[in-house]
Amino acid sequence: MGQFLSSCSKPARRILPHKTEGDIADSSSDLAQPQTPLDGLPVLKKAKGHYWYPSDGPRILDACGGAGVACLGHGRRDITKAITTQMEAYAYASYAHFKTAPVDELSDWLIKSTGGKMQKVYLMCSGSEAIEAALKLTIEYFLWKGQPARTNFISRHDSYHGTTLGSLSVSGHFARREPFRPFLNQAHFHHIPACNPYRQQQQNHHHPPTNADAAAKEYLALKTAELEAAFARLGPHTVAAVVLEPLVGAALGCVPAVPGYLAAVKAICARHGALLIFDEVMCGMGRTGSLHAWQSEEEDAVVVAPDLQAVAKGFAGGYQPASALLVGEKVVRVMEEERKKREEEEGPWGGGGKGFTFTHGHTYQNHPVVAAAALAVQRAVEREGLLGNVRVQGQLLGRLLKERLGAHPHVGDVRGKGLFWGVEFVKDKVTKEPFEPGLGVAERVQKVAVRGFRVLVYHGQGCAGGGRGDHIMIMPAYTISGRLVAEIVDRVAGAVEEVFRGL
Ligand SMILES: Cc1ncc(COP(=O)(O)O)c(C=O)c1O
Repeated sequence: MGQFLSSCSKPARRILPHKTEGDIADSSSDLAQPQTPLDGLPVLKKAKGHYWYPSDGPRILDACGGAGVACLGHGRRDITKAITTQMEAYAYASYAHFKTAPVDELSDWLIKSTGGKMQKVYLMCSGSEAIEAALKLTIEYFLWKGQPARTNFISRHDSYHGTTLGSLSVSGHFARREPFRPFLNQAHFHHIPACNPYRQQQQNHHHPPTNADAAAKEYLALKTAELEAAFARLGPHTVAAVVLEPLVGAALGCVPAVPGYLAAVKAICARHGALLIFDEVMCGMGRTGSLHAWQSEEEDAVVVAPDLQAVAKGFAGGYQPASALLVGEKVVRVMEEERKKREEEEGPWGGGGKGFTFTHGHTYQNHPVVAAAALAVQRAVEREGLLGNVRVQGQLLGRLLKERLGAHPHVGDVRGKGLFWGVEFVKDKVTKEPFEPGLGVAERVQKVAVRGFRVLVYHGQGCAGGGRGDHIMIMPAYTISGRLVAEIVDRVAGAVEEVFRGL
């Protein structure tokens, strides 16, 4: 059928050049047989609510919404109605020729949702596009600000920000970078260690577990020192931006930043005049219990707004391919000043004409049907009070996962927030040694879960660094009930137990 596996939706273990035949262990298992792309996947007939219905076999409980996308569940008539209504009016209009009501309404709604901290919206179709746009806008911002020396980006190891060459350059995901390494920009993109306390805090503090506060402080100091050192090494005046996910999704398996980390990073960026870019492609738009991950609803949480923010996945919940770049007040101000200056010098068409003067564009930018879908999804999340449900059911999900799996000898860590939870598997719980990548442990769990327990989870590799480490992610729709949360945990735990009995 000519379809290829996506490197984002499947680990690359069968195609990576650095893997040998010997890495693919257990040749007696059908999980280890070389497969052609899409072999063995069920054919989908329909999806409704929290279930996928394959053309043969019983329905599958959806515990991950694809890659954390289907935030409203499947088959919502109100959303498809909003889409078809828009399509009947007009299905497409170029952003260069028309303003459209759905795009205007969505932009206004998004800006309001940030309390005005973000002031412009750039609507696109994928997370990679949003990150690519963030990188290019940063470059142009500093040109206009008269600081052309700011050409360096700092991001983190074991991160994923997209599949295009720019967004992959800023990513620190070992396996996804590996085949393209010579083509990635290593001159301007620099990586520092992630903020991953499960894997880093133990080695780096000298306090017994009883003195958790001192250990946390010491860990935070280590993280800020790493970032400061990167600024110092590159020359603070050359750093354009720091790029990070406030809660790391697929690359690490739902790892929240430690308290104080985001504020510390923002303070360092501000002190050195660099921008802060949040990649909320996966963790944003309600997934962690607040609409934007930086607007934590927890008591005493410090709100850390970025200068640029990418959103996608839960933005339109999979009803259309939607992403956006949200542009903060500081950046907009400089761009507006630049536009005025050009107009004064060159007349009203100077610098590309009216409004926002970013030298960037996509044919499907500001697509009216995409906007109508995103608006309908976001209005439903708001109207139905679903963020509250994300927080309540998220607490239940975390508690049940820890109760059922926390003591398992091969479960190293259960972490997350809202309806965004990861389970990391280890060979040895004490040393945290990961499994050999060739065993494909997370993939086995995913396959046993779907085939034997009829529940779909999202799996990934690389959470222990250097392409090692296995995790699964549980990210049900925001409409999930407590009964279904319990059922998801039951089925997932059954699959985990079965996989490790057989290993
Ligand atoms: C955090 C993050 N950023 C960017 C991307 C890229 O998004 P897309 O696959 O829509 O291009 C992803 C995709 O998984 C992601 O998880």
